[in-house]
Amino acid sequence: MSIKLSPSILASDYGALRENISMVENAGADYLHIDVMDGHFVPNITIGPPVVSCLRKSSGLVFDCHLMISDPDRYIDDFARAGADIITVHAEAAAHLQRTLSYIRSLGLKAGVALNPATDISCLNYVLDDVDMILVMTVNPGFGGQKFIPAMTRKVRDTRALLSGRDADIQVDGGITLANLKEITDAGANVIVAGSAVFRADDPAKAVRQFKGLE
Ligand code: DX5
Ligand code: ZN
Repeated sequence: MSIKLSPSILASDYGALRENISMVENAGADYLHIDVMDGHFVPNITIGPPVVSCLRKSSGLVFDCHLMISDPDRYIDDFARAGADIITVHAEAAAHLQRTLSYIRSLGLKAGVALNPATDISCLNYVLDDVDMILVMTVNPGFGGQKFIPAMTRKVRDTRALLSGRDADIQVDGGITLANLKEITDAGANVIVAGSAVFRADDPAKAVRQFKGLE
């Protein structure tokens, strides 16, 4: 399975989003990870659909929208219209998860489910045929720059086993660096989110190439 890199703009300078995005795009990033926070499901507030639709005009990256919001059903149409390619909702925030995932797919988008670190993977058991991507949070959501939680390596391995051969992606998000990349991909993750490790690096374009194994 090939490894895809999804730089998280949460760690970039929001005043220079367009430039930052084209930099990672030109360096070979696959996706763009867009963290949406509502100040309710998580303590922080970030961006919404109007910003996504502006960015859509100047980027060809796969827009990977991570909704850290309560009751995500209310905003799926808005993010779809704004240009999302993947919409990931939190299992803890979606009251009718199977319905939400099917709805995302019915719009022609890829559907993802995110799990907080303490959430057991058993909640995925009956939606395995409805997901394109499982996001194993490797920190508690809400902030960039936190430390990777070591027990999440085992969770990624268990999630890969639970998928029993299905070709769904496993994304990891939070505290991923070049130093723990191999451990987490060996465990079965194939979509890597990196915020600080890309945008706070001395040379972000070089960091992208290093994550992609090109340098
Ligand atoms: C955290 C977000 C992450 C964050 C990761 O709630 O979901 O996507 O940007 O940032 P780093 O890579 O700095 O831990
Ligand atoms: Zn995220």
